[in-house]
This record gives sequence, structure tokens and C-alpha cells, in this order.
Amino acid sequence: MTADIATAPTPLTLDRLAALTAEVAEEVRRGLHEIRFDAENRWSVRLHADDHTDVWLISWTPDQSTRLHDHAGSLGALTVVAGELVERYWAGGLRERTLADGGGGRFPLGHVHDVVNASDAPAVSVHAYSPPLTAMHYYEVGGDGALRRTDSVLTTDPEPGAPTLDGVPAREGVR
Ligand SMILES: [Fe+2]
Repeated sequence: MTADIATAPTPLTLDRLAALTAEVAEEVRRGLHEIRFDAENRWSVRLHADDHTDVWLISWTPDQSTRLHDHAGSLGALTVVAGELVERYWAGGLRERTLADGGGGRFPLGHVHDVVNASDAPAVSVHAYSPPLTAMHYYEVGGDGALRRTDSVLTTDPEPGAPTLDGVPAREGVR
């Protein structure tokens, strides 16, 4: 499920977003940003926000994952800073790829994916969205093998319900 990225209401391209997450990942490697790990609730912090882009730092303890989702009207990109993540994404069926330290992904409009730390070590990743995230749609694959949207959440946080740096859930009760 991809769409023409020229229709995205942003002057940024997927290439620029990917470059941005790589730049911020380098800042994280240099120790410029605090990272916390929380095995109970996934942890994230917004590092940057402007009219066109928001950038998030997200940590993953073993087995932590998202659900199948898209980023509504936003393009996205991520760079893995430490550890290893597995991205499961929809391409007419569920496919899987491993994103190792330094690797990453680009998410055009309509990209549906789930991200999981399938390793036994913590992982850290930097994510960027443009325009800034406003909503996420969640999906499941039915018994017939078809992708079905199950719910939608209005949120500016790619980890709705996860604790922020202040320890306050960005959106209570929504996962
Ligand atoms: Fe995502």
C-alpha cells in the first residue's frame, strides 16, 4: 500500500526525512540525548518539532513492539541507533525485514507496518514524521489474509499511551 508521495502535504521528501533521522541518530550516539528503557511501557521522547517535522527517540526492550499501523497523512523514516529491530510491513501480504544498527526504513503515505524488538538486547531508534503526526490507523490481517483497519487514534505521539520523559502518558488508555 503506497501512494504518490508528491501528494503528501509537506515540502520534505522521504530522502530528507531519512537523512534527518540519520543525523539525529548520530547525536544520540554522541550521548547528546538521554535514553531510558521501560520494560513495562515503551518509552519515547520528542526531540524536535517544527511546522513540517517532528523527531522522536524511542527505546525498545526485548519483545516490545507496536501494532500494525500507518501514520495517516504523514511520511515517516527511522534510523536504528543501537540493537536490532524487525519491521513487518504490508506489501499485499505481510513481509519482514531486519533493521540493524545504522540501518533504517522510509515510510511513504499508506505504509502499514509493525516494529518489534525480536532480539534479547535493548534497541534504540530515531523516527521522523512529516507533516508532524496527527493520527494513526491500526490494522489486523484477517483469517482471509486481507488487511483490515480496526481503529484510528488522533495523536501527535507515535507511541500513544507510552510514558514520556516526564513519566506522563501522552494519551491515557490508548495503545
Ligand atoms: Fe510506525
